[in-house]
Amino acid sequence: MFLQHLHLQSFRNYQHQSVAFSAPKTILLGDNAQGKSNLLEAVELLATLKSHRTSRDRDLVQEGSATGHIKAQLKRELGTNELNLVLRKSGRRAVIRNGETLKRQQDFLGSLNAVQFSSLDLDLVRGGPGERRVWIDTLLTQLEPIYAYILQQYNQVLKQRNAFIKQHTAEEDGKPLDATQMALWDAQLATAGTRVIRRRARGLDRLIPLAQSWHQAISGDAEKLVIAYEPNVPLTEPPTADLSENAPTIIQQTFLEKIQSRAVAEYHQRTSLVGPHRDDIAFSINQTPARQYGSQGQQRTLVLALKLAELELIEAVIGEPPLLLLDDVLAELDLKRQNQLLETIEDRFQTLITTTHLGAFDARWLRESQILTVHKGSLSGDAL
Ligand SMILES: Nc1ncnc2c1ncn2[C@@H]1O[C@H](COP(=O)(O)OP(=O)(O)OP(=O)(O)O)[C@@H](O)[C@H]1O
Ligand SMILES: [Mg+2]
Repeated sequence: MFLQHLHLQSFRNYQHQSVAFSAPKTILLGDNAQGKSNLLEAVELLATLKSHRTSRDRDLVQEGSATGHIKAQLKRELGTNELNLVLRKSGRRAVIRNGETLKRQQDFLGSLNAVQFSSLDLDLVRGGPGERRVWIDTLLTQLEPIYAYILQQYNQVLKQRNAFIKQHTAEEDGKPLDATQMALWDAQLATAGTRVIRRRARGLDRLIPLAQSWHQAISGDAEKLVIAYEPNVPLTEPPTADLSENAPTIIQQTFLEKIQSRAVAEYHQRTSLVGPHRDDIAFSINQTPARQYGSQGQQRTLVLALKLAELELIEAVIGEPPLLLLDDVLAELDLKRQNQLLETIEDRFQTLITTTHLGAFDARWLRESQILTVHKGSLSGDAL
């Protein structure tokens, strides 16, 4: 897919800005705080309806405006998509595709696919489990937009169950929770949670071999990467075992048993302790956890391998190459890894790259790229 045109209006520090993308690679060049990442963020929002920098639309709308717009023209194999995302300070969004306002925002997902790679992604390895859950959830949402519903349902049940536990442990100090009501919440949590677990397991099953082979290609045979899904409720069947979502499964049974075994702890801690909101993904290199012991270089290689695997997997599932958004990362990679990345991208994946200086770039790359200068929320360069 190819993003042909982007128009930002009252978005972050852009007042009115149109961009026509004219090459497979676009370099956004500018000093700090000029709007480079903001532009990538706009594309990320079209892909995921989320920004990794904020969860509040009022941060995205330009100061002094009530409404912000991100409009895009995207060429896909089956035709051109006009995408339009309207953000409001008040919070209510509108999503419009080819002139039609979509009733359910999640139906917009899948319109544009993108893999984001920023220096923040090192937190994937170094950070806590929450970072890794957001990562796999974002990827799954792009692979199968229905996952957004599945996750939302789970989070809703989780929130309600937590509220129930809190309310009742406060009111009936010392008394056990209403067993019938609690059993209903348990069942709902296990049903919704099992769907999340299976999707995560299936997605990782496909991603892991790709990431491993990339990792081997980048690091040489000396390093062996192992990635393991660590679900809070243990997987008791292969992820491909039973694909019908509603069939009662062994995982669901295990889920309920684990809830039982943690009932007392949940009562005292007044929150849900069992479920995929406590999942993790473990990365290890040569049998050593990458999180604690990996060197900076090893962690970068690992994240690069994950990102390349994401690109490949999305392309395989969607049938078209996704966009790649590189925010400040090229300069962080050594020349060998830079070249590895660039060779993989070739002209297949449309790539938007931000940088504060061109010095680190390969001359061949510079010749083939569209270079846009970003200054105080305004772009200048060829083809604008
Ligand atoms: N809602 C908003 N309204 C107006 N300006 C905003 C808004 N949100 C962010 N900005 C401005 O955008 C600028 C930051 O832009 P951005 O993060 O894209 O910088 P950058 O070019 O990527 O810089 P760096 O090289 O440091 O990463 C800041 O000056 C900030 O004040
Ligand atoms: Mg930036």
